Amino acid sequence: KILILDFGSQYTQLIARRVREIGVFCEIHPFDMSEDEIRAFNPNGIILSGSPESVHADNSPRIPDCVFELGLPVFGICYGMQAMAEQLGGKTIGSDKHEFGYAQVRVDVEDRLFAGLQDAVDANGKPLLDVWMSHGDKVGTAPAQFSVTASTDTCPIAAMSWAEKDFYGVQFHPEVTHSIKGQELLQRFVVDICGCECLWTPARIIDDQVDRVRELVGKRKVLLALSGGVDSSVVAALLHKAIGDQLTCVFVDNGLLRKNEGDQVMKTFADNMGVKVIRVDAEDLFLGKLAGITDPEAKRKIIGNSFIDIFDEEAAKLTEVEFLAQGTIYPDVVESADTKTGKAHVIKSHHNVGGLPETMKLKLVEPLRELFKDEVRKIGLELGLPHSMVYRHPFPGPGLGVRILGEVKKEYADILREADAIFMEELRNSGWYDKTSQAFAVFLPVKSVGVVGDARRYEWVVALRAVETIDFMTARWAHLPYELLEKVSNRIINEISGISRVTYDVSSKPPATIEWE
Ligand code: XMP
Repeated sequence: KILILDFGSQYTQLIARRVREIGVFCEIHPFDMSEDEIRAFNPNGIILSGSPESVHADNSPRIPDCVFELGLPVFGICYGMQAMAEQLGGKTIGSDKHEFGYAQVRVDVEDRLFAGLQDAVDANGKPLLDVWMSHGDKVGTAPAQFSVTASTDTCPIAAMSWAEKDFYGVQFHPEVTHSIKGQELLQRFVVDICGCECLWTPARIIDDQVDRVRELVGKRKVLLALSGGVDSSVVAALLHKAIGDQLTCVFVDNGLLRKNEGDQVMKTFADNMGVKVIRVDAEDLFLGKLAGITDPEAKRKIIGNSFIDIFDEEAAKLTEVEFLAQGTIYPDVVESADTKTGKAHVIKSHHNVGGLPETMKLKLVEPLRELFKDEVRKIGLELGLPHSMVYRHPFPGPGLGVRILGEVKKEYADILREADAIFMEELRNSGWYDKTSQAFAVFLPVKSVGVVGDARRYEWVVALRAVETIDFMTARWAHLPYELLEKVSNRIINEISGISRVTYDVSSKPPATIEWE
């Protein structure tokens, strides 16, 4: 396994995902991990990430000295390379100029990292690699024991290596897909140089977690709040495999779910897989509490608190439950970890069932804690969950509650469910569902005039929203084909009584959030 020491780069998680894709387990830890912890982790090699910092700044992060004394291969990327150069006797030069984007590096064919890799050749027949650069500082003098193994005109020391020690540094970013041979380069390091075996496959991950859950839980009972979303669904399937009937899921139908969603969840888990699921039909309770409430945040709070109340009530009816399962995934763990302590263990806020009776004293089971979303999806498929569930767009906890603007009413929710279902069906039929990151319909409580035959209709408006995004922090509205929008609009207006107009949302985030409330 590989240890990735994080110096704060936005790409650190990407490095980890790439290493996992190769089939090698790795973990991200803060750069100031102690020597004891590093030894206890017992890696086959260490990757040093990039950083927004400069090695010349006061108190800039340092590589722990033990990293160079463990006899392990070390691979520094960007800042990782610069810090390695400084600490082993070389020099890094500061620069106000930021080099950002595509570059071609000439590489040394003799070097273990680069041998046999090329995207093109230069005028002298020397191999070139297409890579992605993003840096201000760069190494000006490599430490004496190192050879320079790649260069560009603006960055004469674009890579360096100390072959006897297996210490390598690259100025560019092999983890981003713009570095075309980046994945092969990482594979060179983790497999050929560090000697890691590619054992991190979905089947192995499942076996490993099943063993761990059994060991942790023994004969005791586990409770899970099942939402039908990807993470909780995969937890349910995994725990069912591990401990069968010792798992009880509580699924709360709050009346704000999509069309047939509750039935689908029951069919997948209870009917097909034999998972014990308690379905709580709480539509009246939720809609009752939401009556007359128009403020988005107030609506969110009511929905969240009501969920906790109901979940507590159900949990209290169960006897001898000792564990609460959660769908926490690795990015939640890494993002909530304080780099200084690295020990944070925060309950995901929208899974927060902190209102559970104190007397229950539940311990946590988090079998996805080490996994990235793409790994969660792969093991979901391996566990037999339907593709449509595992590759579903995200759906917010408050559900249709934040997609019905202003006051939530059953009449509106019913209309919206139908409109949303038509939109989803057409997106799937046209192949656009998988090309968008999130898509849905929004109910606008305004009336607009329409004419049907000779009759005037004065009815509600529905907006369609579809976005493309990597991280949901920024998003671009999806350029859906006009024909598709036309078909969806015609179907919604003709098939659903109560809607006379459909609009398409062409706002990007920022400033417009993905949801309308
Ligand atoms: P916004 O609307 O903030 O949404 O651009 C970004 C992503 O977060 C989802 N979202 C939520 N998820 N509880 C959730 O569990 C919420 O209250 C909530 N609000 C927004 C949204 O669907 C999008 O994927």
